[in-house]
Amino acid sequence: MSYNTSLLIFLCFSAVSLSTQSFAVYRLLPKSQTDFQAIQRLYKNATDHDLNFWKTGKDKHGFWDVMVDMKNSKYFLDFLQVNDISYIKTIDDVEGLITKHENNKTLSNMFPRLWDDSSSAHYDFHTYGSYQRMTDWMKQLVVKYPKMVQYISIGKTTEGRNIDGVEIGGDSRTKKIFWIDGGIHAREWAAPHTALFFIHQLTSRANEPGIKKLLNEITFVVVPCLNPDGYEFTRSSTNPHVRLWRKNRSKMQCRKDIWGRNRCCRGVDLNRNFDFHFRESGTSDDPCSEIYQGPSPFSEPEAKAVRDALLSQRYKGRTDAYITLHTYSQIWIHPYGHKKDAYPGDIKDLYEVGKKAAQALKRVYGTKYVVGSGADTLYPASGGSEDWAKHEAKVKFVYLLELRPDEKNWDGFILDEKELIPTARETWEGVRVVAEAVLDRI
Ligand code: ARG
Ligand code: ZN
Repeated sequence: MSYNTSLLIFLCFSAVSLSTQSFAVYRLLPKSQTDFQAIQRLYKNATDHDLNFWKTGKDKHGFWDVMVDMKNSKYFLDFLQVNDISYIKTIDDVEGLITKHENNKTLSNMFPRLWDDSSSAHYDFHTYGSYQRMTDWMKQLVVKYPKMVQYISIGKTTEGRNIDGVEIGGDSRTKKIFWIDGGIHAREWAAPHTALFFIHQLTSRANEPGIKKLLNEITFVVVPCLNPDGYEFTRSSTNPHVRLWRKNRSKMQCRKDIWGRNRCCRGVDLNRNFDFHFRESGTSDDPCSEIYQGPSPFSEPEAKAVRDALLSQRYKGRTDAYITLHTYSQIWIHPYGHKKDAYPGDIKDLYEVGKKAAQALKRVYGTKYVVGSGADTLYPASGGSEDWAKHEAKVKFVYLLELRPDEKNWDGFILDEKELIPTARETWEGVRVVAEAVLDRI
């Protein structure tokens, strides 16, 4: 190779690597109440400056993680300087991190089809699967366990996908219902995976005494991926704007920004779209915001599907537990989340069972969870599905779980596939405690 060719190649590669290092993550560390308020202002105007918050801080002692497009970072960096905000850069190159994880897949993850015998049910739990794989597997389970598993479809998304799940435990109308969903937020990939793993535990271990006892009294309804449009969108590219998409993919809506320009964006935050103190706290009227609540309660087909299922003749009045899976921060959240110090009348029961569940979870690998309300542990946010399930659908044990990693972890939503099975296993032990609590009330 001539000197000139190698120089050319070198220049090409450096140009490529420079241009891909476009997205970084900064951790902002307030030193005072004034710093905290300044950061809150920044958060309020996030969409005007193309900032994607991964994590918010709840007071001056908490920290914030924000993803910044470095090509468009002047306002942000000036803001930090002018307000003298302390920070550290936690990720230099988000897309680099995403592709590093993609390339790290083990051989077995890359060729799951080699031993994928389609005549018997198989799902590769070592890897993040497509929505198609999830539904294919659930359909195979119905064939494998016709008495125990029933396939359900609770609605259709904006892009026309079916929102599917399974009922496990037969369809006796006298049993209690335990509802589990995951993936209401697109980028939180460990959530659907974990829900799917619960299905695996319940079906493959149905004859073990502990599980048998649960299935005698409870029918589990598991809808692993509530927002399949969003999930598939985040899988479609390593571009951080795409991989870190949170909302559904509902059609474009417009609004004028602070400079009077028309700004149009897709997607509603489904966990702000439920009819519980709609639009009161931790939400936005800006369709471009990550926390846009939508034009009206239940404007979104995915949220409507959950509402209609829980209020249907089939489940109404006999649903005793509702668990919705999110990532990340390792928090076992009970209602309510719309404001601080707001709790349901039976908070004592919910807290006690939540504590016990977190202890059982910790016994598996030592993973620590905080137990508390969404507003007390994270930030006030209204229109959440868990609050609606408690207050409107009148479910007894309601929890929102923020799975791994812990809030201090730098990689946040980009959880390594190696952690998928451990995450699901430990969470399952916590969920079993809630199921036991349902049995105790019968
Ligand atoms: N990260 C979740 C969300 O933003 C959890 C919110 C906790 N619930 C609440 N109502 N504050 O949707
Ligand atoms: Zn979430």
